[in-house]
Amino acid sequence: MTEQNVSEHKNTFNIPEVIPILPLHHVMVFPKTMIPLEVTGSASVLVDEAMTKDRLVGLIMTKKEQDNVQPYAREDLHAMGTCAVILKMAKTAENRTQLLLQGLSRFSVEEIIEGKPYQQARIRLVDEKEVKDLETEALMANLLTLFDRILKLSPFLPPEFGPMAKSINEAGTLADLIASIINAPVEEKQKVLDTADVKLRLKELTRMVNHQMEVLELGNKIQTKVKDDIDKNQREYYLRQQMKAIRQELGESDENTVETDEYRKKIEEKNLPEEAKKEAQRELERLSRMHPSSAEYTVSSTYLDWITALPWHEATADNLDIAAARKILDEDHYGLAKPKKRIIEYLAVRKLKPDSKGPILCFVGPPGTGKTSLGHSIARALGRKFWRIALGGVRDEAEIRGHRRTYIGALPGRIIQGLRRAESNNPVFMLDEIDKLGSDFRGDPSSALLEVLDPQQNNTFTDHYLDVPFDLSKVLFIATANMLDTIPPALLDRLEVIELTGYTQEEKMKIAEKYLIPRQLKENGLTASQFKLTGKALSTIITGYTREAGVRNLEREIANACRGVAAQIAEGSLKSKTVTDKDVHRYLGAVRVPTDIDARITKPGIAIGLAWTPVGGDMLFIEATAMKGKKGLTLTGQLGDVMKESVAAALSFLRTNAEELGVNPDFFEDRDIHIHVPAGATPKDGPSAGVTMLTALTSLLTNRKVRKQLAMTGEITLRGAVLPVGGIKEKVLAAYRAGIKTLILPAWNRKDLEDIPANVQKKVKFHFVSDMMEVLTLALEPAAGRKPVKKANAKTAQMKKAKPTAAAGKKAAHSKAGAKK
Ligand SMILES: Nc1ncnc2c1ncn2[C@@H]1O[C@H](COP(=O)(O)OP(=O)(O)OP(=O)(O)O)[C@@H](O)[C@H]1O
Ligand SMILES: [Mg+2]
Repeated sequence: MTEQNVSEHKNTFNIPEVIPILPLHHVMVFPKTMIPLEVTGSASVLVDEAMTKDRLVGLIMTKKEQDNVQPYAREDLHAMGTCAVILKMAKTAENRTQLLLQGLSRFSVEEIIEGKPYQQARIRLVDEKEVKDLETEALMANLLTLFDRILKLSPFLPPEFGPMAKSINEAGTLADLIASIINAPVEEKQKVLDTADVKLRLKELTRMVNHQMEVLELGNKIQTKVKDDIDKNQREYYLRQQMKAIRQELGESDENTVETDEYRKKIEEKNLPEEAKKEAQRELERLSRMHPSSAEYTVSSTYLDWITALPWHEATADNLDIAAARKILDEDHYGLAKPKKRIIEYLAVRKLKPDSKGPILCFVGPPGTGKTSLGHSIARALGRKFWRIALGGVRDEAEIRGHRRTYIGALPGRIIQGLRRAESNNPVFMLDEIDKLGSDFRGDPSSALLEVLDPQQNNTFTDHYLDVPFDLSKVLFIATANMLDTIPPALLDRLEVIELTGYTQEEKMKIAEKYLIPRQLKENGLTASQFKLTGKALSTIITGYTREAGVRNLEREIANACRGVAAQIAEGSLKSKTVTDKDVHRYLGAVRVPTDIDARITKPGIAIGLAWTPVGGDMLFIEATAMKGKKGLTLTGQLGDVMKESVAAALSFLRTNAEELGVNPDFFEDRDIHIHVPAGATPKDGPSAGVTMLTALTSLLTNRKVRKQLAMTGEITLRGAVLPVGGIKEKVLAAYRAGIKTLILPAWNRKDLEDIPANVQKKVKFHFVSDMMEVLTLALEPAAGRKPVKKANAKTAQMKKAKPTAAAGKKAAHSKAGAKK
């Protein structure tokens, strides 16, 4: 029995030299620490016996595990152990005993005493000397700091261990306590137990604690990083889950599922065609997996909105009452017999054969002739919805056919958009200004229109955005254009062209009286009794203030007059007003359009041709003049190549036939000729001015003026034949509007006369010619004292007789004087 110096237990416990051995693995018991322990088998016997005696046991770590079956070989047991007292014991099951042990003191094993059923050992208690020096203090302080940090880094150690450790004064005890607490391998801990020297023990423990802390810190670092990564992903998820929970709490069900349910219902209700339904359901499937705030969600839901909003089956019932339809058409527009007739035919066919394919009508004509408004009227007559898209300047194929859904902000093309707005699959769909379609690197919109406008294929028109076919065959397409030239031939081929020509003065008067004036009265808040326009005044407005084939400007001028009167009435200076031709200028200002074309034909060398433009027919003045020079030919007025060539042809013809025409054959030797075609800023081209060029030149060189109120059109050959030209109807109407009384046209164009309104035919004298000599005979006033040209026919002779030659000669002399000046 050895003296024990540290342990307070030495007073209480008398530790014997020989003590029963309880081998331990995986657990360490340090002096002055408490530990619960479960024992089984032979150890239970040991415990039972110890309990009957002094309750003391010797705890020794084994070097290898042996299932608690004693005896252990001496070398399998560590040399140092801890003597402990059993504070509590409880039997839990057969051969299982729960113990609460309190370590008392370390000992070294002197000798193992074999015995049954447990081993005993002769021990020597370690005499633990208290050391108090600076190094120990420093070591202790350092250990405490380290221990503090370990406690902070280890979430499973209660922080109370900190103050507890600080309260311990003995260095050895502190080392044992910390060693028992930290999470280190038992082998390491055994080293602490083995070290009897207190200072060495502190050092050993410091090493251990340091290592332990490094492990913890590294672990912590890894943990934080992993946590950060997970946080990012999970944060959103948690928040979302929370939001969902909150919504549910508030009784609002989840937005996403509500929306998908709505779409599902819509798809069912809409009874989409098979293919569209499949596509819609696929999109819905995608939608249901997405979060409402994601960008793709919007893309998907927009698509579903479109596909469910389209009029797949919705159609308006056609008004097949032909008499009623005719009445409506007549109500809205004056004249326009041809298009109206075509519409009535269309209706009749639909009545007899409801599934007939719709034609694609194309109204062609100058501006303001009622193409667009006729479309409206047709829709009204048929009882259909009306939708119009303006194709002017459309350059991108995608505008017609849509963008693929993969593009951000993609939308269907205008056709599908129009149908959605029209809310029926059989509207009157107007493709306005189809002749102004553009095309460039973005694709050719007209090629997309080909499919739209082909009755054979448009029942499966596929918009890029929708990506499923839509049946356009019930749509009544109407296209409008000012000219046919710029419509791609393939497109034109699919159109049924209906020409709307310009209106005559009489027609304009009727349109104004029946439609434009009543409409403008309403617009300006006037009653029919407050504002009247005499027939003469109206005719003055038409001739003096507008120069157009249509009636748009006419309506504008009428509106002007209405506003003027409305202002006076509002001021109180008038009660009502009948506008006469005398006071038109008070409301519209000075006359704008020179009405007297005769005033421009003052000298030889000026002839009037007729031109065709997209805005209707027009007058073409050709002026020729000669001056001293040498065979120079100047052409001005932005003439195109073809027109320049006509001049050259005319000149050659003139030189060849100089004698016959009464022209000095050497006229070109000492002269320059200048031909000018006003308005100089407007580009002009085409062969139809040929006859006019030649007439102007002959007039100049023979010094014979061109007859008054006479105009002409026609192409010439080098041999003087007159060839047919186009646009006769517009040209004739323009000439008539300008007050022309005689027209010279190519004989080949005689057939075009049937399109010309009867009253115009009555008022204008037409001459159909096939030879240039005939033209000259008809057009030129006879030369003073000269015999009529050879080829003159009876009519020409008659005309010549009518004109006094003397007057012509006088005027010619006058013009000569002018030229000299
Ligand atoms: N025959 C007519 N009867 C009654 N009103 C008419 C007639 N022709 C044209 N109008 C009126 O003239 C105006 C212009 O017609 P609209 O806009 O249809 O011309 P448009 O042919 O489409 O011209 P653009 O080629 O410039 O588009 C409309 O207010 C229309 O009601
Ligand atoms: Mg229009």
